[in-house]
Amino acid sequence: MKKLIIANWKCNPTNLVEAKILFNKVKKGIKGTKNKVVICPPFVWLSAFAKGFGGLAFGSQDCHYEQSGAYTGEVSPKMLKDLGCQYVIIGHSERRKYFKESDEIINKKLKAGLKTGLIPILCIGEKRGENQKRVINNQLKTDLKGIIKKDLKKIIIAYEPIWAIGTGDFCPADRAKKARDFIKKKLDNKVLYGGSVNSKVARNYIEVGFDGLLVGGASLNAKEFIKINKSA
Ligand code: PGA
Repeated sequence: MKKLIIANWKCNPTNLVEAKILFNKVKKGIKGTKNKVVICPPFVWLSAFAKGFGGLAFGSQDCHYEQSGAYTGEVSPKMLKDLGCQYVIIGHSERRKYFKESDEIINKKLKAGLKTGLIPILCIGEKRGENQKRVINNQLKTDLKGIIKKDLKKIIIAYEPIWAIGTGDFCPADRAKKARDFIKKKLDNKVLYGGSVNSKVARNYIEVGFDGLLVGGASLNAKEFIKINKSA
C-alpha cells in the first residue's frame, strides 16, 4: 500500500547549489515509485522548488499561527500555500525544545494551517524515561483542543520519541507499535514513525502498521533516502 515518506531537511543544506543537487537526485530516484514523497526543505529553499515540480509534494518545517502582520521573522500558512506547499510539520521536538513551543502554540499553528488548506504533520513523543502513553495523551489533548471533527481527520500524526531523534538510537518497532496502536485507538488518522530512520530499519515500522515515515538526517543523503522510500 502507498505510504507517506516525509523528508525533513531541518536547517540543511546551507547553500542553494547543494540544495538543488540533493533535490534533483531525490526527484530522479523516487520517480515511478509507489509511495507519496513529501520534501520539507528550509523556507528559503522551498521558494526555489515548490512551484512547478509535478509529482512531488512539498511541506514546510513550521509555520506561524497568524496569516500576516507585525510578526518579524515569521512565515505564515498563506505564504506557504501560495508557494505551492501542501503540508506543514507542526510541533517538531526541536521546535518544542529550542524555540520553547508550547502545546498551546502548537494548537494555534494547527488551526491556522488547517484553515489555509495545508495538511499538518503533528509531531508528538516522549523524552527518555517518560511514560509513553501519558505524554502522547497529554500532547494530543492540548494540541488538538477545539479542532472540529472534519478538520481533525486531515491531521497526520508523527510519533517521534525524542530520545530517538538524530541520535541513531531508533525506537524498537514493537515499542513504536505500542504508541501507534494507542494513537489509532484515539484517532482514525494516519500515523507515521520518525526517529533515526535509515534504510535498514525503515521496513520494520511499516510492518507493524505505520502509514509512513518522517526521515530527518537520512533524508540529506539522496541514496539512502531513495533506499528508504523503496523499502517502505
Ligand atoms: P532523524 O530526525 O531521522 O534525524 O532522527 C527525525 C525528524 O526530524 O523528525
